[in-house]
Amino acid sequence: MAYFLGIDLGSSSVKVVLMDGETGSASASAFAPQTEAPINAPQNGWAEQNPSDWWVYLKTALHTALHTAGIPPEAIKAIGITYQMHGLVLVDKQLQTLRPSIIWCDSRAVPYGERAFETLGHDYCLQHLLNTPGNFTAAKLAWVRENEPGIFDRVHKFMLPGDYIAMRMTGEVRTTVSGLSEGMFWDFRENRVSEPLLRCLGIPEEMIPEQVPTFGEQGFLTGSAAAELGLPAGIPICYRAGDQPNNALSLNVLNPGEVASTAGTSGVVYGISDQVCTDPKSRINMFAHVNHLAAVPRLGVMHCTNGVGIQNAWMKRMIASGKSYEEFNDMAAQAPAGSDGVSILPFGNGAERILENRQIGSSIHGINFNIHDASVLARAAQEGVAFSFKYGMDIMQQTGMSTRVIRAGYANLFLSPVFRTTLATVADAVIELYDTNGAQGAAIGAALGSGRYSTPDEAFRPLRRIAVVEPAPALRAACIDAYARWKELLRQRIAQI
Ligand code: XUL
Repeated sequence: MAYFLGIDLGSSSVKVVLMDGETGSASASAFAPQTEAPINAPQNGWAEQNPSDWWVYLKTALHTALHTAGIPPEAIKAIGITYQMHGLVLVDKQLQTLRPSIIWCDSRAVPYGERAFETLGHDYCLQHLLNTPGNFTAAKLAWVRENEPGIFDRVHKFMLPGDYIAMRMTGEVRTTVSGLSEGMFWDFRENRVSEPLLRCLGIPEEMIPEQVPTFGEQGFLTGSAAAELGLPAGIPICYRAGDQPNNALSLNVLNPGEVASTAGTSGVVYGISDQVCTDPKSRINMFAHVNHLAAVPRLGVMHCTNGVGIQNAWMKRMIASGKSYEEFNDMAAQAPAGSDGVSILPFGNGAERILENRQIGSSIHGINFNIHDASVLARAAQEGVAFSFKYGMDIMQQTGMSTRVIRAGYANLFLSPVFRTTLATVADAVIELYDTNGAQGAAIGAALGSGRYSTPDEAFRPLRRIAVVEPAPALRAACIDAYARWKELLRQRIAQI
């Protein structure tokens, strides 16, 4: 009997899966909290969460899953972790957190990243870091250095959210090359941490955690963590990766030309390339994929819209409070394609990379009080998200990344027929939906990292395609028209600010 625990530290909840190593299927899964976890915004554009809350959510979800599965905890052979990317967690020498985590969609560090882009030079950043320092972990740390010097002086190590969960489990502060690349610390040309970046931002090299491979033993569950989690001590952590590379892994997207997508709190289209294909304005990003090696590059090329599930959840709260997501999706389907002229720009969750790190806010356009009802708003919210994907996919295509066939887990907004059909139609893409999710991906990563599976082919044999979404010819004209209107509104909104 061999089980693998996958942990997905998202922005809205922590999800866990207990995967049976024999069948590759989930014996139990659970998440906590039951309603979306808060993102605290002490100022407009800021976004923080408390790492200790993540730990509590993990304990709650794991206890539920263990109880449901009814398997002996001793049967769990390895743990895999996936996590919301680009966040900053700071600890002192006693491994106590020094402040709340500044998470991925917090925009306070944009000017720090922009300054570093100018100081280091565009060529250096795009050729070595493959991105602008933007709004990623390194720029967030530079913000702390300048604005909270008392805290910065006490920093022993910085880490990413998944590194924090691993630290709570093992007592070791460690990270991966993929993690360092998502924080903007990795120099791909030199295949090492970027010294120029550290110098430019005033970050001492000693603050960087020790590096471990993405797959393989990264530490062992301590006695005290094991007691809190209800597991035996000594279980190895054998995998960790950011949620987007991990989503791609969960869909067996590992080789050049393959493309994955998610539509959780944020929404991403993520393709694999063996070539550097940066956008000069860094509106799309490139990070080290889970299987990246300097000698065999595997780069994740991605578009990200910050305000996807979070916008959908907000709209549901505003106009369909008490309804389930299924009912909300049905409501959206009652409005006509194109939402009868109503458009929503879904940019209400911080600086958007596809908009060169502008914060333009979400906005609703074209409502007629005598005609429109809630269904039009529900549909326009989901169409607006699909249009933002199309906008990002066009930039990806300009850099040579085809997004004609996309794989996604059958989860979150991909459960909505309006969203997925609008996306397939407006982007002229075929979307394959699979029976998997991020926590399952992390469990598969743990099984691969522990040697339970020796090849990805073996690991992905049970992956089941549940549906294929094709462009809908009958909706094409309305979608293209609505997208043109949406894009023009976006152009005007950008010009206003
Ligand atoms: C990806 C990104 C988001 C977060 C959300 O670059 O910023 O998808 O990882 O968890």
